[in-house]
Amino acid sequence: MPLPKTEYLSDSWKDGIFANKVVFCTGGAGTICSAQVRALVHLGANACIIGRNVEKTERVAQDIATARPGAKVIGIGSVDVRKLENLQEAVERCVKELGGIDFVIAGAAGNFLASIEQLSVNAFKSVMDIDVLGSYNTLKATLPYLRESASKHRMDSKTRGCTIGRPEPLSIVATDNPSVQPSPIGTGGRIIFVSATIHYRGMPFQSHVSVAKAGIDALSHSVAIEYGPRGLTSNIIAPGPIAQTEGLERLLPSDALEAYTKAQPLGRFGHVRDIADATVYLFSDTGSYVSGQTLVVDGANWRMSAGG
Ligand code: HXC
Repeated sequence: MPLPKTEYLSDSWKDGIFANKVVFCTGGAGTICSAQVRALVHLGANACIIGRNVEKTERVAQDIATARPGAKVIGIGSVDVRKLENLQEAVERCVKELGGIDFVIAGAAGNFLASIEQLSVNAFKSVMDIDVLGSYNTLKATLPYLRESASKHRMDSKTRGCTIGRPEPLSIVATDNPSVQPSPIGTGGRIIFVSATIHYRGMPFQSHVSVAKAGIDALSHSVAIEYGPRGLTSNIIAPGPIAQTEGLERLLPSDALEAYTKAQPLGRFGHVRDIADATVYLFSDTGSYVSGQTLVVDGANWRMSAGG
């Protein structure tokens, strides 16, 4: 049975805003990333999700496709994001079957609790490689298509009056003056890195992940600056404690769940829908001028923990 829309997307968004768009997502079989992709697919996109487990990734892809009749969702398992060739092959298949890549979500991550003394060099390196190198490889493999999408979209907005993704055509007059170019409505050439907040303050038993997430943040900022002139936007979504996710289950002992929930500033954990909604915002027309930013979706969790 298809998942009810309210489980992964709020009612604020209009159907069809991502028609003819393609999203490529690593870590796409995970709880958070699959909700992000499902929301985009619901709103018109086709998708390619990347995972390490073939059976799970294909099953999740089929499941996501039920979000919209006619949706095309490819699940490519056994991809190790640490290997650029693996990602390049997946990207080629995505482009061949879906026609391009407009949006990228770099969401693959590794995590476990371990003190600095317990961590072997290989354990530390494994998380760095999955998170940082994996995000870099995802960017590197998709960048030619993100650039193509951004430039195609710029042409569309200049010559066609920015109508893509809008129910009613807009009458925006194109001009050659770069300072008054129309906002690139219709969107394309956008990347979101899924990060965290733990490195803002430091967290015990998470040194490896904290270092990795700081690296991912720096990568996103660099993309925003280096490729902004090419029309790309790059942003970070930093989820806080999101209910029923593998990350939370791994990090929080079940007997601490109730007390920790009550201690949250909003008195509850987040929902995967909160992350999906943030994703829709950043990829939508509404997010056109947002780049180089971190959207923290944590109900003020990290400020509370930081005492701020
Ligand atoms: C200490 C550990 C360990 C553990 C693995 N290692 N698990 N060390 N405690 N619990 C060590 C191994 O002993 C090995 O070191 C090294 O890490 C590599 O492990 P492998 O299993 O050989 O590698 P690999 O198959 O690459 O797996 C890496 C992995 C992976 C990170 C451990 O299993 C994984 O990604 N698992 C979790 C996925 C996950 O949790 N996703 C959700 C992320 S949530 P030696 O020295 O023995 O060779 C998230 C949110 C972050 O990221 C925000 C939090 C607030």
